[in-house]
Amino acid sequence: MSPGGPAGQGDAPLWAGRFSEPPAPEAAALGRSLGFDVRLAAQDVRAGIAHVHALARAGLLRSDEAERLVRALEEVGAEIASGAFAFHPADEDVHSAIERAVTERLGELGARLHAGRSRNDLVMTDLRLWALEAAGRLGDGLRRLIRALLSHAREHAGTVMPGTTHGRLAQPVTLGHALCAHAWALARDLERLHDWRRRADVSPLGAGALATSTLGLDPEATAAELGFAGSFPNSLDAVSDRDVVQELLAALAIAATHASRLAADLIRWSDEALGFASVADAYSTGSSMMPQKRNPDVAELARAKAGRVLGDLVAVTTALHGLPLGYHRDLQEDKEALFDAVYTVEAVLAALAGCVDTVRFHPEAMRRAAGAPALYATDVAEALVARGMPFREAHRRVGELLRRLEAEGRTLADLTDAEWAELGLPGGAALLDPDRAVRARGGPGGPAPERVLEQVAALEGLLAEG
Ligand code: ARG
Repeated sequence: MSPGGPAGQGDAPLWAGRFSEPPAPEAAALGRSLGFDVRLAAQDVRAGIAHVHALARAGLLRSDEAERLVRALEEVGAEIASGAFAFHPADEDVHSAIERAVTERLGELGARLHAGRSRNDLVMTDLRLWALEAAGRLGDGLRRLIRALLSHAREHAGTVMPGTTHGRLAQPVTLGHALCAHAWALARDLERLHDWRRRADVSPLGAGALATSTLGLDPEATAAELGFAGSFPNSLDAVSDRDVVQELLAALAIAATHASRLAADLIRWSDEALGFASVADAYSTGSSMMPQKRNPDVAELARAKAGRVLGDLVAVTTALHGLPLGYHRDLQEDKEALFDAVYTVEAVLAALAGCVDTVRFHPEAMRRAAGAPALYATDVAEALVARGMPFREAHRRVGELLRRLEAEGRTLADLTDAEWAELGLPGGAALLDPDRAVRARGGPGGPAPERVLEQVAALEGLLAEG
């Protein structure tokens, strides 16, 4: 018994010819990817059109036939885009659905479409086209978030705040310096996307199932028509590998980690106990019970999503490892993970950019906190070093001084002029001034206001490069 008529028609799968019975419903359900790969419809149509042209160039289609096929592909693409397309229960994936619809329209001519092509090279062509577009959108999202950070960084180049390590008071920095630190990390994410693009920009179309075809197609011409920088150097690699997906997921997992760390700072800074920042109402949520609440949910979600994106990378990497060369259905698992990661990171970047755009910083609260004398202990030790004392000894002396002061219920701010002089640092009280302390760190890459403005300019330069 044939499983429902000639291949590519009715409810028969494209490969029905060799089979004596149709797929079991639960087998078909497990394998069906249409629910998610329908997102590749526009790319599948573009790749289909380029393939039609390749067949025509190889003398396998007359030009009027090629035109009719192209028109049918375009119509099907438009119907899918508008929602008018009637999917068939037997459509396994978007590639089968489109080929079936073209064949239903054009009969024998439609049945010529798949010559020299396999879903194995087609799906990777579609996915690369999709991913390249997605990377463009992700780059825009990163740029927007970096710009939002830079506009605050410029304004707050000289706004002093306590810098922390282990979440404990460490040394004074400027808010601009902290914001630029996040911006630099995101700028590297942008660079990673650019770098990925060089390797991703390769067309697999013409690789066929694994070994090209005997039909004399010209993959370079197809690649050029699709706007790829080049064509595959090895057909088996072209259909087997997914490092293009893996690498993008890795870049996204890193970007999501950076977004998460920025979110963590926004949450900390807007903590009522610190009061360094207020997140706008539009990026906060209330409590169903406690009327006073304004919770930083957007930042909290941005913080949590990094785990999900890393999960996508792990899922794909795990599916890939140990697979021999050639297409395996395992490879179908790449798409949901990639779509999920891309949509997640796009959403996180957009919401965080809005949150950063509208956050209000409170320089007075930061300055107050930056007045904590403990923040200047290193400055005192370094002042002793500048007067010739070995650092280890200076560190010990200041440590002992702090221990004694603590026992007396005093701080560095309570030292008398005589005590400073005794320490070998006459006028040392000036060391506790936050503005002096950040200006004193005027070396390259430091938190001094002029260095922050340099960083802002350098980052703006990177953004302008595209
Ligand atoms: N839906 C399939 C995927 O995403 C398309 C390729 C199918 N190829 C095959 N030989 N079954 O991987």
